[in-house]
Amino acid sequence: MAARRTLAECTVGLGVTGSIAAYKSAAIVRLLTKSGIRVPVIMTRAATRLISPDTLATLSGLPVATEIFPPRSGSSPEMAHLETGQSVDLMLVAPATANIIGKVAAGIADDLLSTAIMACNQPVLFAPAMNERMWTNPIVQRNVATLQERGYQFVGPEEGELACREAGTGRMVAPETAVDRALQILLSRLEGLRILITTGPTEEPVDAVRVLANRSSGKMGVRIAEAARDRGHRVTLVAGPLHCAAPLGVERIDVTTAAEMQRVLEETEAGAEILIMAAAVADYRPAHPEQGKIRSGAQQWDLRLTRNPDILARIAPPRAERGAVTIGFALEVGEGGEERAMQKLKSKGLDMIVLNDATRPDSAFGAETTQPAFLFADGRIEHLPLLSKADAGLAVIEGAEVLHGLKSNKAAKGVGTSAKTS
Ligand code: CTP
Repeated sequence: MAARRTLAECTVGLGVTGSIAAYKSAAIVRLLTKSGIRVPVIMTRAATRLISPDTLATLSGLPVATEIFPPRSGSSPEMAHLETGQSVDLMLVAPATANIIGKVAAGIADDLLSTAIMACNQPVLFAPAMNERMWTNPIVQRNVATLQERGYQFVGPEEGELACREAGTGRMVAPETAVDRALQILLSRLEGLRILITTGPTEEPVDAVRVLANRSSGKMGVRIAEAARDRGHRVTLVAGPLHCAAPLGVERIDVTTAAEMQRVLEETEAGAEILIMAAAVADYRPAHPEQGKIRSGAQQWDLRLTRNPDILARIAPPRAERGAVTIGFALEVGEGGEERAMQKLKSKGLDMIVLNDATRPDSAFGAETTQPAFLFADGRIEHLPLLSKADAGLAVIEGAEVLHGLKSNKAAKGVGTSAKTS
């Protein structure tokens, strides 16, 4: 089996062609390099008139290639590799004009970018950008179909206002959408674990317009998902209503209530080696939510609540029997937090619990920082310093990887012993 790789060990070749959407390529480079991915850029001559190669070279930290025969003094070994299409894990062409799509479909390799695409034996993803009349031209459509039949992939174009001041289909997708697809393709080819993460609050309906919710922003779970993705794992994020941007490159399932979250988890958890339950699940829900809107007028009214099922307590024990890792969160207030968190870990059957103190201002809901403690089933407690939520997310993932490694080793040894005795 190939060794597990992280995104920081991956290379995405970015091809930029001569559409006005070329300016979006700067954001694409930024988003990809955020995960540590190397992003060598090849630009067509037309693209260099729309965005400066210096901009993309500065953002990627690598020289930008434009010519198939660069001046000898300026040639870089990097580009020699790209020409053969061997050194990239994925080639993203964004924006992709009708011209580059047509050239690749016809097998024409008459400049550096078309040569690199033709020589590339890894996935190629096109993000087309053109006027609607060009996009709907049967010749372009036939070229797209030809490429799709041969395994080339496309993201967009989408409908909206076009640079030519017309509206229609042909606009390149947002940089986030292109990067989301590119990361998903990359991650599907790495040897990562399947990690299921829940985050955000749940909202329990009171009536048709009101909900019972909590102050969770969902940020911690999102940072854990980003850390897991950057480590090369395949992530599914089950999210309540988020109050922060969703991570790119992960599968996202949106839910509202605790009951929905439970249903989704029961359907998906079996496929996940690791479950991290960072969601602030409502412990109670209105017992009899009104179908319509509760009218104002009464001086007071009582809201009767009923207990929500404890999702972790139901899901964790069978996971433990299968050797799968389950991590919970505990938000505690005041003295005795560690004892209560350890008690939760034991009663729910978890491998690890992440304890946060709700009274610390720098660890509160919505904050950028947190100072958690990790509690383990063997009684060990690890106190972490004040960390950014991104660093805390990475620490959670590293902890989860260690637990998974220990459990798989145990399982492997167990199999070995029974094989000998049988
Ligand atoms: N959790 C869950 N289902 C619930 C409530 C909580 O799966 N109905 C999960 C949370 O996602 C978290 C862990 O259980 O990972 C602990 O949640 P927390 O609310 O801190 O603890 P409770 O067990 O609900 O106890 P209490 O609210 O009394 O502190």
